[in-house]
Amino acid sequence: MERYIINGGNELFGDVEISGMKNAALPILIASILTGEKCIIENLPSISDVRKSLDILKAMGAQVSFRSESCLELDTQNVEGGISPYDLVSKMRGSTYLIGAELARFGKAKVGWPGGCDFGVRPIDQHIKGFEALGAKITVDNENGYIYADAPNGLHGNSIYFDVVSVGATINVMIAAVMAKGKTVIDNAAREPHIVDLANFFNTCGAKITGAGTSVIKIQGVEKLHGCTYTIIPDMIEAGTFMAAVAATGGKINVRGIIPKHMESVSAKLEEMGMRIEEHDDYITIEKVKPLKHIQIKTLPYPGFPTDMHPQLSAALCCAEGTSIVTEGVWENRFRYVEELRKMGADIEVDGVSAKIKGVPNLVGSEVQAVDLRGGAAMIIAGLCAKGQTEITNIMTIERGYDDIVGKFTRLGADIKKAEY
Ligand code: UD1
Repeated sequence: MERYIINGGNELFGDVEISGMKNAALPILIASILTGEKCIIENLPSISDVRKSLDILKAMGAQVSFRSESCLELDTQNVEGGISPYDLVSKMRGSTYLIGAELARFGKAKVGWPGGCDFGVRPIDQHIKGFEALGAKITVDNENGYIYADAPNGLHGNSIYFDVVSVGATINVMIAAVMAKGKTVIDNAAREPHIVDLANFFNTCGAKITGAGTSVIKIQGVEKLHGCTYTIIPDMIEAGTFMAAVAATGGKINVRGIIPKHMESVSAKLEEMGMRIEEHDDYITIEKVKPLKHIQIKTLPYPGFPTDMHPQLSAALCCAEGTSIVTEGVWENRFRYVEELRKMGADIEVDGVSAKIKGVPNLVGSEVQAVDLRGGAAMIIAGLCAKGQTEITNIMTIERGYDDIVGKFTRLGADIKKAEY
């Protein structure tokens, strides 16, 4: 059993280079199926969710080879639909995108029910609504855990209004619509940077997508896409995690290779907490200059404060002066990590979708588990600032989405190592 062992108390100093964005990489890898040609994907993060996605694509017939650790050559010419391995698909949320991709390329799809972090119910009704609007018939086989889609007459562009702002549904319907006949308009679309990244990838392959990054995305279907070379955007959540860590531990770091605009909501909240932040062209300098102040956070779809950053900020707020309120506005149950922070001496009460965090003088090292990906990152942050030693179990959930997190924190001066016992 692998675990992280952290001896807390070190301030962080130096530079950290941010990897490519997990939530852009997963849809782009799957979207490459539509090209049926060779794509070169650069700035691919070295994380287990990417490795799982590549295993799925290989099992479907794709040829995969690495030019370097972060540059991949992916040829989807011989990919077949309906054969993605259930055990891999059911471990990842991103595998839902196979439904859109198989529908677009083969006119039908068979995909296992997707997995991912447990934040309560994770419905896909909006994905299904979008596919149906494009002319597909969807059948969910609950007993065996499969989703079937069929469009015997092909997919046809249509207008779709989403009832909730969903990253996954926006991406999936974009994938399905890109080669549909005619024009698709997606209204109330998600505006996350990874939606824009997917649109840019598709447009580089010959698609005609406009409006990505706004709430109305227009897609003029094209008959064929071609392969391309594409560089994935940096991971704003990984960047935010390092920023939250410095808030908790103290010190001064440069978070490099990022798009500072994507960090605006996170930077604003960290500044409210008292952190000093300087924005540069492609990096941010963040420094702790005074004790942290309490704040209020409410998570919202982009450009609001990202739900995927709330556990890391909560960890930093455990030792802030006063009482902070963190309200989750996207997921019904994202506070499972709070129990773990309490084991370290945090004073947090959860009431429905809000957590009340009363600052304590310090956290105390303890044995805790990573309950999910970002909840696990919160445990690292708590361990880095706690007195004494923290052991984090279930770390494979952290390694699903963080590239070399131990190496990156070690180079900033943290005492963290991976142990096996
Ligand atoms: C993606 C991210 C996840 C992040 C989330 C919100 C990936 C692999 N995962 O998840 O890390 O926390 O965006 O930024 O990219 N909903 C419906 N019906 C649907 C789809 C969603 O009601 O058909 C609801 C969900 O229950 C949730 C909200 O919409 O309350 C947002 O979900 P969504 O944006 O779809 O999240 P994911 O794409 O699953």
